[in-house]
Amino acid sequence: MARALPDERRPHSPDPGAQPAPPRRRARALALLGALLAAIAAVAAARACALLADAQAAARQESALKVLGTDGLFLFSSLDTDQDSYISPEEFKPIAEKLTGSVPVASYEEEELPHDPSEETLTIEARFQPLLTETMTKSKDGFLGVSRLALSGLRNWTTAASPNAVFAARHFRPFLPPPGQELGQPWWIIPGELSVFTGYLSNNRFYPPPPKGKEVIIHRLLGMFHPRPFVKTRFAPQGTVACLTAVSDSYYTVMFRIHAEFQLSEPPDFPFWFSPGQFTGHIILSKDATHIRDFRLFVPNHRSLNVDMEWLYGASETSNMEVDIGYIPQMELEAVGPSVPSVILDEDGNMIDSRLPSGEPLQFVFEEIKWHQELSWEEAARRLEVAMYPFKKVNYLPFTEAFDRAKAENKLVHSILLWGALDDQSCGSGRTLRETVLESPPILTLLNESFISTWSLVKELEDLQTQQGSPLHRQLAGLHLEKYSFPVEMLICLPNGTVVHHINANYFLDITSMKPEDMENTNVFSFSSTFEDPSTATYMQFLREGLRRGLPLLQP
Ligand SMILES: *[C@@H]1O[C@H](CO)[C@@H](O)[C@H](O)[C@H]1NC(C)=O
Ligand SMILES: *[C@@H]1O[C@H](CO)[C@@H](O)[C@H](O)[C@H]1NC(C)=O
Ligand SMILES: *[C@@H]1O[C@H](CO)[C@@H](O)[C@H](O)[C@H]1NC(C)=O
Repeated sequence: MARALPDERRPHSPDPGAQPAPPRRRARALALLGALLAAIAAVAAARACALLADAQAAARQESALKVLGTDGLFLFSSLDTDQDSYISPEEFKPIAEKLTGSVPVASYEEEELPHDPSEETLTIEARFQPLLTETMTKSKDGFLGVSRLALSGLRNWTTAASPNAVFAARHFRPFLPPPGQELGQPWWIIPGELSVFTGYLSNNRFYPPPPKGKEVIIHRLLGMFHPRPFVKTRFAPQGTVACLTAVSDSYYTVMFRIHAEFQLSEPPDFPFWFSPGQFTGHIILSKDATHIRDFRLFVPNHRSLNVDMEWLYGASETSNMEVDIGYIPQMELEAVGPSVPSVILDEDGNMIDSRLPSGEPLQFVFEEIKWHQELSWEEAARRLEVAMYPFKKVNYLPFTEAFDRAKAENKLVHSILLWGALDDQSCGSGRTLRETVLESPPILTLLNESFISTWSLVKELEDLQTQQGSPLHRQLAGLHLEKYSFPVEMLICLPNGTVVHHINANYFLDITSMKPEDMENTNVFSFSSTFEDPSTATYMQFLREGLRRGLPLLQP
């Protein structure tokens, strides 16, 4: 059962000398998915059929390795997208373009977004400040063991690819809500396609697939930052989700959240993935999308880290991978003003110049919008977040607020302490947890009823501990950090910060990936006879043990 699904990615490691993950670790996430037995059985059957094909593919790989060597084979397989061991003209295209220096002129975007001279256009400006490399963990040892080549795509990316670009108002049609969409009810502009059963998309790619339909506008917007945006991330949750936040007679305000990433390398270098935590923003557009009043898109920069980076340094996708997190101060697109007609007609239908005889551009006057219904920015952001991360149906409070609330309600604190963020794409460590146990209904119910939940970055607590702030906050942070081990620690605490129970995520994932037979032998956990996903059962056990130890110590 543990091998029935695609391999999990290797665990995060900030340590340049880290060993490849042990096989058990790699297999563990698979077992986490145990809940849906039927589906797993189906995959297992398919897997058996695939074994023969695998053996043949392995033999082909073997002989290719002899001919090309590791790096050569890597380059070859990154181009061989259908993995048939032959390079077709289509697959060779990126190399041909690189060698001949020719870039195809007519891009697919222009094909899909034809220009109509009578429509309104919108100018969008990109503001970009490069990633601060000193915020990367690997900068602490001066990027020891990281080849300059690996980081060259990152170091070279100092400006936005297009500082400004002109769009037709109509191109923003994909942001229009579906008919009858209610205020605050999220919908998917680009639905995610990954699930625990599909696994993740290959790391071993350089060029984004041609965007289709609603992906085109997102691709073009993100392409203003860098020429190789992938509108769908390799890992779940991917896609673009939106939410109607205000309605007037003729306008909508739509807030959105995009999970997308960039490929900073090109052959012959190895892939380097740059994954901002999220892109968010809003658009105010007329109900027929002929006029855009306002548009903004940005990577939030209020936390100390907001970008995940992963790069390969060898032919194996699973073992030759480096990971780091960093901070990008600014990555933002904004409309310079509302969309305006490119051609202006006078009352008789004659074209008039959009510049006055003095050379001054015509000034447009825009009607004031009277909103009937409005949703707060915070509420909309929360709904988009829950759409991406169902585990957020439980409220996760900021660290110190959680302890204040726990004191007021006399409850225990359920806390997750991690190296990277739990609720965006900037860290993979939390992915397995949030996509399985933390969103399972029995866990959601127990957390909601009996705990105050919070999660924090290790770096935030380290800062809290050294700041000249409240001694109480310093103590809370200290008690937490004492119990922390890399990469993720789950803790149950009293309102005064004393930790009554804790478990490390790697240990948790290892024990839950044991087969039920192992479990009986080692007697680590006794499972209820009812069919339950082992990781959910184990997390349940962890929470209940926390309650057992903590409840008697709460103030009566
Ligand atoms: C980075 O820039 C240098 C100098 O412009 C160039 O030679 C090199 O090819 C670039 N590298 C990448 C990965 O773009
Ligand atoms: C949490 O509890 C509140 C109050 O009992 C309830 O209204 C809400 O629906 C619950 N949420 C979840 C996710 O169970
Ligand atoms: C918190 O309260 C418990 C139970 O009253 C007590 O044993 C513990 O020492 C307290 N911890 C701190 C840090 O005050």
